[in-house]
Amino acid sequence: MLVLGLETSCDETGVALYDSEQGLLADALFSQIDLHRVYGGVVPELASRDHVKRMLPLIRQVLAEAGREAAQIDAVAYTAGPGLVGALLVGASCAQALALAWGVPAVGVHHMEGHLLAPMLEEQAPAFPFVALLVSGGHTQLVRVDGIGRYELLGESVDDAAGEAFDKTAKLMGLRYPGGPEIARLADQGTPGRFVFPRPMTDRPGLDFSFSGLKTFTLNTWQQCRGAGDESEQTRCDIALAFQQAVVETLTIKCRRALKQTGLKSLVIAGGVSANHALRQALEKMLGELNGQVFYARPRFCTDNGAMIAYAGCQRLLAGQHDGPAIGVQARWPMELLPAI
Ligand code: KG4
Ligand code: ZN
Repeated sequence: MLVLGLETSCDETGVALYDSEQGLLADALFSQIDLHRVYGGVVPELASRDHVKRMLPLIRQVLAEAGREAAQIDAVAYTAGPGLVGALLVGASCAQALALAWGVPAVGVHHMEGHLLAPMLEEQAPAFPFVALLVSGGHTQLVRVDGIGRYELLGESVDDAAGEAFDKTAKLMGLRYPGGPEIARLADQGTPGRFVFPRPMTDRPGLDFSFSGLKTFTLNTWQQCRGAGDESEQTRCDIALAFQQAVVETLTIKCRRALKQTGLKSLVIAGGVSANHALRQALEKMLGELNGQVFYARPRFCTDNGAMIAYAGCQRLLAGQHDGPAIGVQARWPMELLPAI
């Protein structure tokens, strides 16, 4: 089954062609980062308009790269939520229009299920059951995964998502959007131990997270340094490292707890923050100690992309699921509500 996948939930237009027999045939992405950077974050209306401009050229590009014709496509998968409503509607309308024109089914995919299944596109693919740490700009969740659509939420952030904490903290320190890769870049040059930040909610039982206090702690530290006349690049790097270490260690502690609680030894990390090298290293080390294994997607499939949507959509289509012709998207959509396959 040849599936065209469309991702437009936020500020990336992602398109991919996935074949159930041959795997991923082609994928293309247009990132709107430069468009939004001057505003310090995503401007929803600009995002929607840009998706409209990029979608069809990207679809033509993946078809050409894969050497396939539109007539060979068996179904269209698109991100139906959660995300920015206007942006989602571009992908949904486009998918439904193409499906109608081509006489094939369309299937709406949950964006976080897409992220969660992205490591399945790698050679080292995880087998069910496993614990998943979903860390993106909008979500921080620990989920027990027993199969596709068989999700049990173990814990989540009570305030900012991990990626959001990276982005907001970076903004407070005058860094560019998106903040995650910027903080990671500065942290590489940071002096270990100069600052030590708290590990929120690790001193009490449970698997929930809170990152907003850490953001305030970072702001206070940065303001104290500035007040003392120290706005040096090195200080920025040292603060970035302390912040990143606090997030990474907090996530690692909670992942260890989730593995212990479930008795599982496989951990999947997915979503934009799973591209972070320090996080990957810390989790590899922890899983090494537990004789377990950690799985993640290649960096460009950690952040938003069309390949994960094509893959997740294909699995649901193979199980006989698809949408009617109505165009519907959901800004909020708990992943536990998805049907099992
Ligand atoms: O999954 P994603 O592309 O979009 C959402 O679904 O939200 O995740 C984007 C988030 C942003 O907050 C970005 O700052 C963060 O992932 N991110 C990173 C890194 N690369 C992207 N955070 C930390 N380290 C990175 N290397
Ligand atoms: Zn995402």
